[in-house]
Amino acid sequence: MNGRRPLIAANWKMYKTLEETRAFFKEFIPKIKDIFDRDIIIAPPFTSLNEAANLVKEVPNCHIAAQNMHFEEQGAFTGEISPLMLKAIGVSFVIIGHSERRHIFGESDDLIGKKVKSAITHGICPILCVGETLEQREQGHTNEVISTQIDGGLSLVSLEEMESVTIAYEPVWAIGTGKTATPELAQEVHSFIRKLIAQKFNSPIAENLRLLYGGSVKPENVAGLMNQPDIDGALVGGASLEVNSFEKIVRFE
Ligand code: G3P
Repeated sequence: MNGRRPLIAANWKMYKTLEETRAFFKEFIPKIKDIFDRDIIIAPPFTSLNEAANLVKEVPNCHIAAQNMHFEEQGAFTGEISPLMLKAIGVSFVIIGHSERRHIFGESDDLIGKKVKSAITHGICPILCVGETLEQREQGHTNEVISTQIDGGLSLVSLEEMESVTIAYEPVWAIGTGKTATPELAQEVHSFIRKLIAQKFNSPIAENLRLLYGGSVKPENVAGLMNQPDIDGALVGGASLEVNSFEKIVRFE
């Protein structure tokens, strides 16, 4: 083991009503009562955040994340959600820069960097997502793309603030496709990211940083990924929507 506490996170994206969220937690929470040695995060849609945060209050290693946030505290930003609003309802993590935010909604590295900084400023731990498209990988640009996203996403973060940051490597070509990166390929990129962080900040920060893999993580492949030295957890989409499937991934046996 590498000494970093494992973290398994669920990104529900635009799925589950409030009623479906209640039903999930009612079934899921009793199933994880015996698990203490890892962190579990669930990121429901905005409409369920308040209730989800209340439902996990008695489960110390289970946390609630938002899937996005604006960097301003308040103002004329139609449709956006403020860090103050998230903090006020008990949200402790936030996914920032997911590839769907980048490629569907056009979020830039500059905007993502402001969101990461604002999350930290407001006491919310950011999960910064990075990852290359299939075309970028095939053209041999993976490291360049990851470096640019890391530089942009962490451009405003100080050495001291890095302790609250988690990074998720999510190759775009593996998201929702069933084409999971092999453990070796994921490890190669995770190792590159950790070396990048050591150069950008310092070695202790790089060693303590949790790096999650995301992209078609399933009960069948999670153990192989978690056996890699620089993979500290997973960011799970589709397979996190069903209780038994997500429980198996959380246990990554
Ligand atoms: O943020 C996690 C997500 O992008 C991965 O989705 O369905 O490939 O597990 P999925």
